[in-house]
Amino acid sequence: MRVEELFEHLWQGYIKLAPAAKDIHTLLQSTQATPIINDHIALRTLAHPRCNISVISQVFLALGYERKEYYHFESKKLDAYYFQHPNETYPKVFISEVKIDELDFETQNTLTSLAESIPEEVLDSKLLVSSGRHWDVSYEVYTKLYAQSEYAAWFYLYGYCANHFTIFINALEKFDTIIEVNNLVKESGYTLNSAGGEIKGSADVLLEQSSTTAQVIEVKFNEGTYKIPSCFYEFAKRYKDENGNLYQGFVAKSADLIFNSTNHLS
Ligand code: NI
Repeated sequence: MRVEELFEHLWQGYIKLAPAAKDIHTLLQSTQATPIINDHIALRTLAHPRCNISVISQVFLALGYERKEYYHFESKKLDAYYFQHPNETYPKVFISEVKIDELDFETQNTLTSLAESIPEEVLDSKLLVSSGRHWDVSYEVYTKLYAQSEYAAWFYLYGYCANHFTIFINALEKFDTIIEVNNLVKESGYTLNSAGGEIKGSADVLLEQSSTTAQVIEVKFNEGTYKIPSCFYEFAKRYKDENGNLYQGFVAKSADLIFNSTNHLS
């Protein structure tokens, strides 16, 4: 499988969960001749030996990606790495995992049983990262998980899929600033995640990011259908470091705020 094919699988799964992302993509693509470039995508998983970051990243490593920096999110109990390909037009891949051991006993049991229920052939498949979830969902279990970890609850519903794609603003032909992109998105009727301000980061930390709030979709539970946030779209503008190289990493404080894009709106 080629890198392009893998991302096409991920994109198709993603726009099924967040059709608004396809509309925003179409809107921005209509302003330029060259294809829009993705800065990164994000994947979520469990820190369990069957499906942790090491397992999930195999398909990317086999395609020439390299593991880069480590990030830790204390309050959300997450670890993360990003992966980058030598071909800089390929998206970086930000993979996080929730540390099951640090959650309460009942949550540990729930998440461990999810990890154990992923079929072996799926774990061995090149399409693991776009394989969705491999279990039925209960609204009661979902709300219990949500109380302990929004991240774990999201994973319970959607499993393996891109949590978000991210438009690389630097490569847009008609937009220079993140404010211009944010304004277009808002004028088109979408809501931005405003936790900590619409723009996370700054030129000083070499990365500015914003994101839509996750699209609310109907999810079928054993108990019935409920409306739940799914996936969101992100926008990133990068700046050059003191050596003149475009910064490629992430900013932990900003990423922490971006994770909140899948929270229920209160
Ligand atoms: Ni992101």
